[in-house]
Amino acid sequence: MDNPILAELRQAVGPERMSTAPEDLSAYAYDGTWAEGHPAVVVHPQTTEHVAAVLRIADARRIPVAPRGAATGMAGGSVPGEGSICLNLAQMNRILEISTADTLAVVQPGVITFDLQKAVEKVGLLYPPDPASVYQCTLGGNVATNAGGPRCLKYGVTADYVLGLKIVLPGGYVMRTGGRTIKDVTGYNLAQLFVGSEGTLGVITEITLRLIPKPAAQLTALAVFPCLADACAAVGNILQAGIVPLVTELMDQGTTRAVENFKHLGLPTDAEALLLVAVDGDEESVKREIASVAEILRRSGAREVRQARSAEESESLWEARRNLSPAIARLATHKLGEDVAVPRSQVPAMVARFHEIGRANDVPTVVYGHIGDGNLHPTLLFDRRDAALMKRVEKAAGEILDAAVALGGTLTGEHGIGLFKRDHVASALDPMALTWMLAIKKLFDPNGIMNPGKKLPSPSSLVPELTGTRGNS
Ligand code: MLT
Ligand code: ZN
Repeated sequence: MDNPILAELRQAVGPERMSTAPEDLSAYAYDGTWAEGHPAVVVHPQTTEHVAAVLRIADARRIPVAPRGAATGMAGGSVPGEGSICLNLAQMNRILEISTADTLAVVQPGVITFDLQKAVEKVGLLYPPDPASVYQCTLGGNVATNAGGPRCLKYGVTADYVLGLKIVLPGGYVMRTGGRTIKDVTGYNLAQLFVGSEGTLGVITEITLRLIPKPAAQLTALAVFPCLADACAAVGNILQAGIVPLVTELMDQGTTRAVENFKHLGLPTDAEALLLVAVDGDEESVKREIASVAEILRRSGAREVRQARSAEESESLWEARRNLSPAIARLATHKLGEDVAVPRSQVPAMVARFHEIGRANDVPTVVYGHIGDGNLHPTLLFDRRDAALMKRVEKAAGEILDAAVALGGTLTGEHGIGLFKRDHVASALDPMALTWMLAIKKLFDPNGIMNPGKKLPSPSSLVPELTGTRGNS
């Protein structure tokens, strides 16, 4: 990057808020995956004005900008392009307001999700979205990827909690959209357009989030299923009985073995599947519901149901789920955790197809996920130094995505498209919808500086009739 551009940035944000030290450029080259891209400079803004100044300079100079929070993403979405400006929003980490009267919070994008959860729970409120990285990830990143987590079956995803946003657009223009009300049909819903946009349209610098009253109690049951298909069907049986559980988490045998070898929790490693089900509500209703859930799980084919009788016992059942990702990481040098979502009725078919794909391509696999909302994490295990294996992994990964789409599902439920799934987007979207998405990108970011190479395919990689005309034939 030219020295005059660095000088402009220095003038705009102050020398103490940027770095070109090689060790910093390396430290900010990654997200939660193995993808890597070295920025030319890392800038640590502390105000919306700092962000606006950076985007003004970047747009005028046509320098790509890669915003990031804690960079815990699983799809390469915050990996900076070579030579770009890495905009580290982690220092904009203040909770600006918690309103019990309006049941909302106003936060800066760098607030860690768990810190908001703790703060609102102190005043009897709940912020439900709970991605696995909740202790590290930031709310700005959660909004940018429309993050989910186990509790989404009952309470929905990040999008369901975003009421309003302050956003800096390319050129440094500051836009407020949405507000503090649950109902709002004034104009188009631009706030929701930015939810899940993965930093490709602008930079979020303030978020207004809806909160809900915190339920008094929560109880958990762990069911042991000899047959994985029965575990999948059990979730439908619970919902059909009129119970909406807080979570329904599936672990296949490979996942259970990995957790058991890691943490020695006494999990049954001979069963095809474990299903963790939690309910929440008032003290009396959770006791009633967990008893009904346990009964349905048994009727659905569970050979054993471990039912927690207290919050402490629930906690110990949750140990298994919490240790799942690090446990799987120990199985191989590298892992690719996919994030497909399919209609709930298609979960058994998706799981079966995934195992077939793993076998046919000779790639070791495990699968777990939030099955109540159809969101699975089929995971491929490998060593990236094995070139022949990597070819098979790539083929298998593509086949998993194709299978999800063929079953009426989608490429990603909660991790985002990032770099990793970009080449598959065109095959998963209605061509007309994709055309309009590309047009929206062009409208907000005419010079293509916002997180280029992420989220959507480049227009040049599309068939000409998609990019040349918007007419319907
Ligand atoms: C999860 O559900 O655990 C995450 O979405 C994926 C992971 O961290 O492996
Ligand atoms: Zn997940």
